[in-house]
Amino acid sequence: LPDQDFSQQAHIPSFQKVILSPSFSLSTDSSTLYRFQYQEMYKRSIEDPSGFWSDMASEFYWKKKWDHQVCSENLDIRKGNINIEVGNHISFIHMQHYRIHNQLMGFSQWFKGGVTNICYNCLDRNIESGNGEKIAIHWEGNEPGVDDSLTYNQLLDRVCQLANYLKQNGVKKGDSVIIYLPMLMELPISMLACARIGAVHSVVFAGFSAESLEQRIIDCKPKIVITCNAVKRGSKIINLKDIVDSALSESSQNGVCVGLCLTSANESAMKREATKWIKERDVWWQDDVPKYSTKCDVEWVDGEDPLFLLYTSGSTGKPKGVLHTTAGYMIYTAATFKYAFDYKQSDIYWCTADCGWITGHSYVAYGPLLNGATVVVYEGVPNYPDPGRCWDIVDKYKVTIFYTAPTLVRSLMRDGDEYVTRYSRKSLRVLGSVGEPINPSAWRWFFNVVGDSRCPISDTWWQTETGGFMITPLPGAWPQKPGSATFPFFGVQPVIVDEKGKEMKGECSGYLCVKTSWPGAFRTLFGDHERYETTYFSAFPGYYFSGDGCRRDKDGYYWLTGRVDDVINVSGHRIGTAEVESALVSHPKCAEAAVVGVEHEVKGQCIYAFVTPVEGVAYSEDLKKSLVLSVRTNIGAFAAPDKIHWAPGLPKTRSGKIMRRILRKIASRQLDELGDTSTLADPNVVDQLIALADS
Ligand code: WTA
Repeated sequence: LPDQDFSQQAHIPSFQKVILSPSFSLSTDSSTLYRFQYQEMYKRSIEDPSGFWSDMASEFYWKKKWDHQVCSENLDIRKGNINIEVGNHISFIHMQHYRIHNQLMGFSQWFKGGVTNICYNCLDRNIESGNGEKIAIHWEGNEPGVDDSLTYNQLLDRVCQLANYLKQNGVKKGDSVIIYLPMLMELPISMLACARIGAVHSVVFAGFSAESLEQRIIDCKPKIVITCNAVKRGSKIINLKDIVDSALSESSQNGVCVGLCLTSANESAMKREATKWIKERDVWWQDDVPKYSTKCDVEWVDGEDPLFLLYTSGSTGKPKGVLHTTAGYMIYTAATFKYAFDYKQSDIYWCTADCGWITGHSYVAYGPLLNGATVVVYEGVPNYPDPGRCWDIVDKYKVTIFYTAPTLVRSLMRDGDEYVTRYSRKSLRVLGSVGEPINPSAWRWFFNVVGDSRCPISDTWWQTETGGFMITPLPGAWPQKPGSATFPFFGVQPVIVDEKGKEMKGECSGYLCVKTSWPGAFRTLFGDHERYETTYFSAFPGYYFSGDGCRRDKDGYYWLTGRVDDVINVSGHRIGTAEVESALVSHPKCAEAAVVGVEHEVKGQCIYAFVTPVEGVAYSEDLKKSLVLSVRTNIGAFAAPDKIHWAPGLPKTRSGKIMRRILRKIASRQLDELGDTSTLADPNVVDQLIALADS
């Protein structure tokens, strides 16, 4: 375990009870949950998970019903003695990544043997039930006044055309497809088209650099890359095609050659003629895809067939390819969306996340579309052309459910209330928060100013790995406390353990784990099942370990206190310290680097880097800039360090381990809390670092 004390890491929000204001109107629909109903349903979900999840699953279309067993699992190799045949169902996607082993740790399967398709359940099923003419997507462009929309019928047509195009170009069930797109309608269309034909999509957030994209291409060897020529975010134009060109040329030099790059022409950002083009490889989406038929048969897949890969940061330099499968993920995202947002057919839903992250997968695309919802997809940034843009969009589409991240709340809060209050926001009914702990003052501003003290806030705790919400309020079901994610979702058994892995009861703080499998759980790390076992299931045998610290108060509410591993959460983006360090040391003038997270008013945490230049290289502002640039080109702008702190040496133990605890204290200038430094190989480095703090 890391040498970190979770209880000191993030401040624990103060206890305050918020009883929802009397003006809050829960819809009176019979599906609305009140606390006692929750308790009853929760109890059933734990005592009879098979029955509970079978009922949830019965709302969806199954070509063939699942086998007798809804879930099989083995979270602990030591406990388990079950014999599981693994193999065939996933063999078409480079099977080696599931070790042939009859006691896989962390192994779980849901709805095995069931045959279905998530794209069919998102589109065809909703159309068949009479929602074909309902708007599926309202697309709002970066520039005010530029917009578009698609009904469920139109969305299906566009998905089918692309699915046919992909098939025609050799993409088969189990092949992977990389999608490197900004928030254009083409992004959810591409995801759904892959799912329709059983291809495994891997969306790479369009803020990642060419090198990160290349790394992912090399790892999952896609048949095709889907992108666009450029995007305008705020007043900045980003030439995405150049980034893809560079990633593809590097990856082909490293043995992974992708022969087809389907490029959407985003002419509001860049004219086609201005786009660099490789004739044999590049194809304009607009020229070719519309020629294909709007009918495309569904590829029926096994419930445990892979749906997508999404890379996320961990505590080593190499990103992890989180693999989700079809049926469990489908049922779980649909159910969590419905209950945690108290979803009604008349809702207009907007989630500000990008589809490049898990929130966009589960709660821009799949969860809402499975429920037949109308979703707003916004291309631009929240403060363009001014900080009132979000509320302008809320009023324009009469958004009822608004789901965002604390960093956005804090940044808009700083811009002042008038940008909010000049818009009506009367349509809003439920608010949501995700990505990091929401501090009580941001929570109150969100509740009082944005939601006019009417709208409950669903502070949803979950992760790329969990597929969907794990701990979340259900709107109106119980009193909220600002900063607490409250109680577990159905079927989720959170436990808080101490350093020794002992489960604690009642009021306590410790490491957050989960006791049994849930349908949305990821199944493996692509190509590295061993890493999956060691990262998530070996720290506390018998449990899934989340990497987060957590406190449970006397009323049983859960309070997330932040990561306890070497992962930093910057503006809700997960960034591994090791990734940033390896980007820094790839700079020829950097001898060594150590990165820690420091509290930041808007971003939550920011990246603070201690850097030792190579012998003889002088400290300079230019060198700082070029080190930051190295991180931007290796990972992406969102991972750029806020501060470079020169370090003649780093505080290390006699065995050579960097003592990050000390670095964190220096970085946050808590110099009187440095603690015991006597175990350092050279205690003088601490004084040297303090002396250089402001240079
Ligand atoms: C953090 C994002 C507190 C947490 C969905 C987790 C949160 C990591 C919350 C996962 C929340 C997410 N309260 N912390 N409501 N939501 N986190 O994989 O540290 O990008 O482990 O998934 O974000 O980040 P990821």
